[in-house]
Amino acid sequence: MFSARSILNTAQRRAFSVSAQQNFKVTVLGAAGGIGQPLSLLMKTNKLVTDLALYDIRGAPGVAADISHINTKSSVNGYAPSPEGLKSALSGAEVVLIPAGVPRKPGMSRDDLFNTNASIVRDLAKAAADFAPKAKILIISNPVNSTVPITAEVFKSKGVYDPKRLFGVTTLDIVRASRFISEIKSTDPANEAVTVIGGHSGVTIVPLLSQSNHSEISGEARDKLVNRIQFGGDEVVQAKEGAGSATLSMAYAGARMADSILRAANGEKNVVECTFVESPLYKDQGIDFFSSKVTLGPEGVAKIHEVGKVNEYEQGLLDACIADLAKNITKGQKFVKENP
Ligand code: NAD
Ligand code: LMR
Repeated sequence: MFSARSILNTAQRRAFSVSAQQNFKVTVLGAAGGIGQPLSLLMKTNKLVTDLALYDIRGAPGVAADISHINTKSSVNGYAPSPEGLKSALSGAEVVLIPAGVPRKPGMSRDDLFNTNASIVRDLAKAAADFAPKAKILIISNPVNSTVPITAEVFKSKGVYDPKRLFGVTTLDIVRASRFISEIKSTDPANEAVTVIGGHSGVTIVPLLSQSNHSEISGEARDKLVNRIQFGGDEVVQAKEGAGSATLSMAYAGARMADSILRAANGEKNVVECTFVESPLYKDQGIDFFSSKVTLGPEGVAKIHEVGKVNEYEQGLLDACIADLAKNITKGQKFVKENP
């Protein structure tokens, strides 16, 4: 027997999905920060968002009051820092974005943030597991290679872990790769898709130029481009001279990832993003989490794509990535076991 939906053509099905739009609450934890404010602004302009909940240890009600004047349909609520505020912010969320935590200063690695941010993310993950156990959780706080495993361990300890719903946001690496390659080739970045796999810090960021429109880039030009994609975050940290790291480009990237998750939740097909998820791809090498292309669906992760063909140079990058990533992931998992 055919359902009404199964006999529709592609265009009709898309229209069906859009007309059948659901109500989506999006929560931002760390909403008053450098990323949190522009990210919240962009979520307010997203037509799929019906409720926007903003939480921070300081300043969220003010940010919410400001954003709430924007004339899009969604409601906006800001919550004062309290267990009740956090509970209200999280309850009923479809997507929880977490940019809470401290950013780098010049000379620091992302791993240097671990001591401060691990416990911030652990505690927010506990609240998310209690009050939004079915939400898609998007982790922005660094070091992403460790904060995602931390969140997974917390959800496991509370018996609500679903690997399909936990994402490390690596979209900024994709955004940068597309922009940087377009600068070299004088093209429109909108037409430049570069797959970036691995993790989100230094050598764990592995751009696959051989799979891009410009597999011909080689030698010194390739080395410079790959280095710029891997260490693009440092450029911003140095330019901001101690005032933090990427916030505006990160808000853009985080909003893109959240929009992709929402579109897939709303029934759109073929939504694909590179993102750091629990992955089978390198489990045999002790790597539980890995970023690769992921097809998104209503439940979150629908399909994790194979890495595909890589050249010898990229295999070298992958070998370096795996070694570092393994340490970052284990560090996060161990932290929760020792500091539940
Ligand atoms: P920020 O200091 O400007 O903002 C962080 C916000 O988090 C602050 O408003 C702070 O009050 C809030 N906060 C701290 N503890 C909290 C808690 N327990 N509950 C709720 N809110 C809390 O920093 P930022 O520039 O917005 O960066 C935030 C994080 O994002 C950093 O760890 C940074 O390294 C990371 N980051 C990640 C990426 C990425 O690609 N994934 C890119 C840029 C930055
Ligand atoms: C980035 O890539 O810009 C972020 O991870 C922030 C940082 O510390 O570089």
